[in-house]
Amino acid sequence: MSNHILIENKLKNFKKKIFINSDKSLSIRAILLASQAVGVSKIYNLLESEDVLNSIKAIKKLGIKILKKNNFYEIYGEGLNGFKPKNNITINAGNSGTFGRLILSSLVKNETNVRLIGDKSLSKRDFFRVIKPLREFGTKIESKKNLLPIIIKGTKFLRPIDYIEKIGSAQCKSAVMIAALNTPGITKIKAKKSRNHTELFFKYLKIPVTLKKEKKFDIIKIRGLRQYSAFNYEIPGDISSASFFIALTVLSESSELTIKNVNINNTRLGVFKILKMMNANIKILNKKKYKGELIGDISVKSSKNLKSIKCPVEFNTTAIDEFLIIFLIASKAKGISIFKNLQELKKKESDRLKIGSNILKLIGVKNQITNGKNIKIWGNQNLRLNGKYEIKDYMKDHRVMAMTTIAALTLGGTWKIHDKNSINTSFPDFIKILRNLGAKIAD
Ligand code: S3P
Repeated sequence: MSNHILIENKLKNFKKKIFINSDKSLSIRAILLASQAVGVSKIYNLLESEDVLNSIKAIKKLGIKILKKNNFYEIYGEGLNGFKPKNNITINAGNSGTFGRLILSSLVKNETNVRLIGDKSLSKRDFFRVIKPLREFGTKIESKKNLLPIIIKGTKFLRPIDYIEKIGSAQCKSAVMIAALNTPGITKIKAKKSRNHTELFFKYLKIPVTLKKEKKFDIIKIRGLRQYSAFNYEIPGDISSASFFIALTVLSESSELTIKNVNINNTRLGVFKILKMMNANIKILNKKKYKGELIGDISVKSSKNLKSIKCPVEFNTTAIDEFLIIFLIASKAKGISIFKNLQELKKKESDRLKIGSNILKLIGVKNQITNGKNIKIWGNQNLRLNGKYEIKDYMKDHRVMAMTTIAALTLGGTWKIHDKNSINTSFPDFIKILRNLGAKIAD
């Protein structure tokens, strides 16, 4: 089988209910937190994507037993700082920024040298954002240019820190929170709002944490050195993966889709709010609470009268992984859409601002990046394609692969999309679910 896909036909109308793959952020957090809990945790419906499988491999190498059972994983937690790695081992985070950053913070008290590496894309991404606070705790970290490979050597003599997180990065906030688990005293974080899965997980695990909400920031205080017990957790669907099927339906002629059992945590709902503002036919049903998180079904219909948006910047962190697909929808909305302050998009698995802009240009959608962080998109409600399009050299970014596949299935034209396996990073069933909806995708 080749490593590209070919799409020559738009997807015909569909009316279906689907489940999508589980949430990546929650899957990685569940494994990491279970590995430091006391006792055996059971994680149901864990995402079996490359990012998560690489995380499992790395945690096993750190001396934690993990067993795959029928429909759950058993993780034999050894308590705080319970890792037992041999000296000078190397662990590989693959493509995962989240795992790479959070595993470093789990190692702040581990006194052997651990070397962290990653794939080509991760090796280009900035680690200073976590190196800096972790050094403040007292941990030794060696790295050239603040990139991978990194060697970390923890210490028994950790001290709590006061940390201001200004980027709106959940990875940075969570890294400091996880380092605080092994640190005596109270670690304080003032964090620009971002996804709050770690906070909710800590609360559910009864880890001593207090949260205070301010307008743009959250104040988080964690008392360290408190062991917590193993837990059972069932991971819901990933709204970031769902967003590609939402777009598929919104941009189709006359279709309806219900995506069942998706995590709809308010700090992840930017895509929903943005699409609603753009006049998309979308709603959430059957909301329920689960261990601090919110879960629901997303119901979406084809939306003929999409309108442009001046996207409020406070949505940026809550839709951070969805902008590529939002740009595609903006291309088919009436009027000029404007998205501002998206500098963080340049730091993802690829430079998504530039690649997003280039893909829109390739399909004839006028757009302009200004100040290296804003993008203006001239939408066209009648956008239809009949050319030939080839997508390659995109750093194997899973979300670029998914976005271009949705473009091919909704706008027309003949598409060759390389590096099809890149989608396995986050959404291994992507192509299978599309085919079940009737998509003709050749390997
Ligand atoms: C994630 C946080 C986001 C997001 C990433 C997952 C997380 O990154 O882009 O895919 O699980 O905490 P940043 O926190 O760096 O913005």
